[in-house]
Amino acid sequence: MVKPPAPRNMAKRVFSGVQPSGSLTIGNYLGALRNFAKLQYEADCLFCVVDLHALTVPQDPKELHQRTLDVARIFVASGIDPNRATIFVQSHVPAHSELSWLLECTTYDGELRRMTQYKDKASRQEVVTSGLLTYPVLMAADILLYQSDEVPVGDDQKQHLELARDIAVRVNNRFDEEIFKVPKPYIPPRAAGGRIMNLQDPYEKMSKSTENPRGNIGILDSPDEIRKKIRSAVTDSGREIYYDEENKAAVSNLMVIYSLCSGQSLDEIQSNYADSGYGDFKKDLAEVVVETLTPIQKRFAELSEPGVIEAILAEGRKKAEPLALPTLNRFRDRLGLLTHS
Ligand code: AMP
Ligand code: TRP
Repeated sequence: MVKPPAPRNMAKRVFSGVQPSGSLTIGNYLGALRNFAKLQYEADCLFCVVDLHALTVPQDPKELHQRTLDVARIFVASGIDPNRATIFVQSHVPAHSELSWLLECTTYDGELRRMTQYKDKASRQEVVTSGLLTYPVLMAADILLYQSDEVPVGDDQKQHLELARDIAVRVNNRFDEEIFKVPKPYIPPRAAGGRIMNLQDPYEKMSKSTENPRGNIGILDSPDEIRKKIRSAVTDSGREIYYDEENKAAVSNLMVIYSLCSGQSLDEIQSNYADSGYGDFKKDLAEVVVETLTPIQKRFAELSEPGVIEAILAEGRKKAEPLALPTLNRFRDRLGLLTHS
């Protein structure tokens, strides 16, 4: 089949990033990656493996190296077409770090200390690096460097995105010129995957860096692991299956996963299981999750041939860097930094 041409001069620019800091979960897939694959048909998309963000907490160098390649493989395996969207590694485009420094000089210390994710992560680290504090500025640099219109993320990134918007507005006002496009968040509501919860604790977000990994479904988990984790997922009191985030937090979370993996609405699921208990529901849920993840895992394995993903990332860097430089250079110029030849 002839591939449709890559989008050019599309009106909308989309940017998002994923850290290579652990095993990606079904929360990453349902909250973010799935939407990346959809958006590539309507916008000019850049999807970035944000390796510099991962360095804000200690990483094993060998693992970081492998995970960087693996996140890029998961991007492609989840349906992102490297001929349509640009897939690249953050540290391959040094403009990200440079803009981050320039933006740090327009961001207030208090703004960063207020970030919920900083407070939460800092409380769990023995030593807190200044990178952990300035992390959201680097994220703002990622987004603003490409004049992004929209940023698809899960709802945990809402506060960081608001900061990116504040920084853009502040710089634009200061120079009385639109140096940066003010980006819009693209965050699904909870019932559409914006916040998938841990299967062992429905009040904790499913996260790569959890202390409760039994409650995570990994994108690369085997069918048996998936079945086991879903079988032992906690449920709520009462045996009815209906959506109620407050009083039925665990079952509501499982219903969202079911709905997004099967394409059935929450109402349909509720009526299909009106006469069944949690056991049948969980058994079927495990199968729809396995059916969703198996094709991704198959494509992931196919991408393991040496050099394949590296070539995609090299192409991505070549496309991304020229898009980034005009914005960086304009901002350097407005700040009064000398240009160089
Ligand atoms: P991270 O794993 O922090 O690099 O996140 C990558 C993307 O996945 C971001 O857009 C997150 O907001 C999103 N994400 C991470 N965990 C979840 C979750 N449990 N539910 C929905 N989205 C998530
Ligand atoms: N901070 C994001 C997360 O942990 C990852 C990220 C870095 C990002 N840069 C970004 C997301 C730019 C969107 C846009 O999930």
